[in-house]
Amino acid sequence: MKLLVSGTDTGIGKTLVTCLVLRALKARGKSAVGMKPVAAGINLQNSWDDVELIRAASSISAPLEDVAPYRLRAPASPHFAAAEEGITIQSATILAALERLERRAEVVVIEGVGGFRVPLSDRMDSADMAQAIGAPILLVVPMRLGCINHALLTAEAIAKRGLTLAGWVANAGIDPHYGRVAETMDTISDRINTSCIGVLPDLALGQSSTDRLAIDRLLERLQAK
Ligand SMILES: Nc1ncnc2c1ncn2[C@@H]1O[C@H](COP(=O)(O)OP(=O)(O)OP(=O)(O)O)[C@@H](O)[C@H]1O
Ligand SMILES: [Mg+2]
Repeated sequence: MKLLVSGTDTGIGKTLVTCLVLRALKARGKSAVGMKPVAAGINLQNSWDDVELIRAASSISAPLEDVAPYRLRAPASPHFAAAEEGITIQSATILAALERLERRAEVVVIEGVGGFRVPLSDRMDSADMAQAIGAPILLVVPMRLGCINHALLTAEAIAKRGLTLAGWVANAGIDPHYGRVAETMDTISDRINTSCIGVLPDLALGQSSTDRLAIDRLLERLQAK
């Protein structure tokens, strides 16, 4: 089984949600491994934050080359970062790594790159990657001004690619000043062709992240697909 965690933008909680799903699967006794096919932005430890967090949340270990086949140095759009290193991102490489992970674990949770249509090369973007992967998508939406438009546009792009949504997550920890979370969730839920599987509070305020997502419902949907 595989799941792609995508989002309406960069920096909106995809890694957080990926790790929560991985930990919840682990708690249910499932072997689960995370994947970040394209990681951009090397840190001071010569590593990639998302990749380290995802590996730590996985219940089984896997080679770095499979978890993150493209590790780019610049904290930039992947098509810039890859070109600067003379690398051409190719879906065949990503799919081969994914296949190896699928042989190791019952569930592979894949974190997307930025929003849904981020250029990866002259020829392909992250929507092409999602289409090649073909996994149901969990869409992360930050609760802030403008998010309804972004959520609906993203859902439309996902449907146009023939992909299905497994659910969406409202991340209410991105903008502490946004005051219309419940109404915004209702508005998106009324217009998007999938149900919300959870709302994340501002975890910086010390609230627990456990049991915020309806993982069993998500798993049922993945099994049904
Ligand atoms: N609900 C929340 N409560 C507190 N902090 C949060 C919450 N959601 C996200 N953050 C913080 O916001 C930052 C961005 O989140 P995250 O790294 O998960 O985003 P992302 O969508 O994976 O970004 P990228 O596009 O770079 O991969 C992180 O520092 C994360 O800890
Ligand atoms: Mg991330």
